[in-house]
Amino acid sequence: MLIKVEHLVKDYQVHKNGKGFLQAVKNLVMPEYLKKRAVDDISFSIQPGEMVGFIGPNGAGKSTTVKILSGVLSPTSGRVTVGDMDPFRNRKKYVSHIGVVFGQRTQLWWDLPVEDTFDLLKAIYKIPDATFRKNLNIYRELLDLDDFMSRPVRQLSLGQRMRADIAASLLHDPEILFFDEPTIGLDIVAKEKIRECIKAMNRDKGITMLFTTHDMQDIEKTCERMIVIDRGKIICDSALTEIRSLYDHERRLTVKFAESYPSIHVAKAQIVHEEGNSKTFSFHTHEITTSELISSLMSEYVVMDLTVQETDIETIIKKLYEEGEGVQAYEGVS
Ligand SMILES: Nc1ncnc2c1ncn2[C@@H]1O[C@H](COP(=O)(O)OP(=O)(O)O)[C@@H](O)[C@H]1O
Ligand SMILES: [Mg+2]
Repeated sequence: MLIKVEHLVKDYQVHKNGKGFLQAVKNLVMPEYLKKRAVDDISFSIQPGEMVGFIGPNGAGKSTTVKILSGVLSPTSGRVTVGDMDPFRNRKKYVSHIGVVFGQRTQLWWDLPVEDTFDLLKAIYKIPDATFRKNLNIYRELLDLDDFMSRPVRQLSLGQRMRADIAASLLHDPEILFFDEPTIGLDIVAKEKIRECIKAMNRDKGITMLFTTHDMQDIEKTCERMIVIDRGKIICDSALTEIRSLYDHERRLTVKFAESYPSIHVAKAQIVHEEGNSKTFSFHTHEITTSELISSLMSEYVVMDLTVQETDIETIIKKLYEEGEGVQAYEGVS
């Protein structure tokens, strides 16, 4: 199903609270509201089977967008269609097609053991026995759920809870997944597990995915496309490879030589680091290509080993934010 977002705007009403007793009374009698624009005219579409990372700093509008896409909130203006459905208006029918995970808040029943929650979901979504058993087996294994299937949700660690939440979102075989910060607060090992699962879902089941994160590594390790949002507006929407070629001209090449050649000179590359027989060169791809540099070094010196480093996506995103109007510091990975 095609996801189509057209000129989406979402405003929240926020109480304008003055201080003091009289003001408090006034607030009760005649509350004043301010309008907070959380999503400010965004448009994009996602093809079936695509895996899209939605990235941006705190307060950018990521969760709001996911809530609208999953039918929890209605748009202030603009339009969202998924297949032939309007997520908010056709909520009842829509929920059977999607799976949703909000990293900040569990969708599971706090006091119920994980397995009972899954049984409840089976009933709610009217999942056929065979499908349920098949999926349960897949996700128990993929997400390592066996150790805590019989424990109440409130006793789970954050990482376990997130894995249970993800399994819960998948039991009814959704075509589309919306994950909002599925890795928030997790340690590296737990994050890796979630990333692998996300990738497997997309690759093996062809599930269309949009997931938000403020961790650049999530995007680098899983997505082919990313949408960058900042203060309610999309500031970049492209393939990761395209972003790299647009913004990432600087490369580093580390070469381990057979001996410690004291004075190596190559045109259009500077040595930025030396250690033993290894030297790191910095160069710009529009001045000299990686293969030109390598072959010019190899024609004059004995090379034992080579590694090329690309600028990481995080550095590129920082540049993007800096180029946007009114520089706002990007807060980096969690
Ligand atoms: N229920 C709400 N009421 C009022 N303002 C809200 C509400 N939810 C979010 N906001 C505001 O909308 C903006 C976008 O929030 P959100 O979508 O949660 O961003 P993100 O998920 O990218 O951190 C923020 O400025 C936030 O304070
Ligand atoms: Mg959020």
